[in-house]
Amino acid sequence: MSRHEGRGKKPVRVITVTSGKGGVGKSNLTLGLSLALASMGQKVLIWDADLGLANIDVLLGLRTTATIYDLLNGTKTLTEVLAEGPGGIKIMPAASGILEMGELSEGQQQRLLSEFDDWNEELDYLIIDTAAGIGSNVIYFNLAAQERIVVLTNEPTSMTDAYALIKVLYTRYQQRNFHILPNQVSGPKEARNVFRLLSSVADKHLSEVSLHLIGFVPRDEAVVAAVRAQKPFFLSAPASEASRQIMDIAKRIAANPPDDFASGGLAFFLNRLASFGGAVD
Ligand SMILES: Nc1ncnc2c1ncn2[C@@H]1O[C@H](COP(=O)(O)OP(=O)(O)OP(=O)(O)O)[C@@H](O)[C@H]1O
Ligand SMILES: [Mg+2]
Repeated sequence: MSRHEGRGKKPVRVITVTSGKGGVGKSNLTLGLSLALASMGQKVLIWDADLGLANIDVLLGLRTTATIYDLLNGTKTLTEVLAEGPGGIKIMPAASGILEMGELSEGQQQRLLSEFDDWNEELDYLIIDTAAGIGSNVIYFNLAAQERIVVLTNEPTSMTDAYALIKVLYTRYQQRNFHILPNQVSGPKEARNVFRLLSSVADKHLSEVSLHLIGFVPRDEAVVAAVRAQKPFFLSAPASEASRQIMDIAKRIAANPPDDFASGGLAFFLNRLASFGGAVD
């Protein structure tokens, strides 16, 4: 067990925010959820695993220079690489090029593990903003994490791509449990319809998959305005419906740790992530 979890600290919840189709709202919801958890007194680290359209530091209006490469290559420590966000959240900035987690050298794997091991910060949640699709990194992060939140919108392509991601993670890697988060819907009714449609296809073809509706986030002009202003909607528009729903989701997550929580955690995640080289095709 790593020293991080061996000092009597409670284990860290490691959660991916992921999607089949791009541009559905992963980064905005990652940030919203992290800030909501932080507002509840939780210590949160966001791992930005995708450059995407607008990555976490852009959404925050932060200027970051260090990336995970500096950590892996030994030129900077974890503390030097992490950026400080509002509400005490920390951010692991996205790699500036394509970083293949499966191609880390032995030395880089060790470096990743030991840097987190030596890190003295308290942590309750590691939230990972993955890329879209079924590329190898998306698979790695989703397999290494203990919980997955699949974001989708009420568009046929978003739903079929969400299904494709779940199908790959289940049929090839025996991943069974998924939180489903419909975004940009009109309200709870549309969210339930999106969920039902996805569930009915999954029930038919992926018999042992368990999908769970974690909540929904409405289409909200406050999110669009926040992206433009480079201020997270949870802080710039706390009374907006999007912020209220994100807060509900954060409360639900906090109240429902996974059954096998104690066997997971940060060391578990990092060891799995570092050991994927060649293990996933
Ligand atoms: N709840 C919402 N209400 C209104 N607009 C939204 C909402 N969520 C996302 N958007 C819009 O969708 C855009 C894309 O969101 P975001 O960058 O979070 O998606 P993403 O899934 O991270 O994309 P990528 O796959 O490129 O990383 C935002 O810039 C915003 O305009
Ligand atoms: Mg994104």
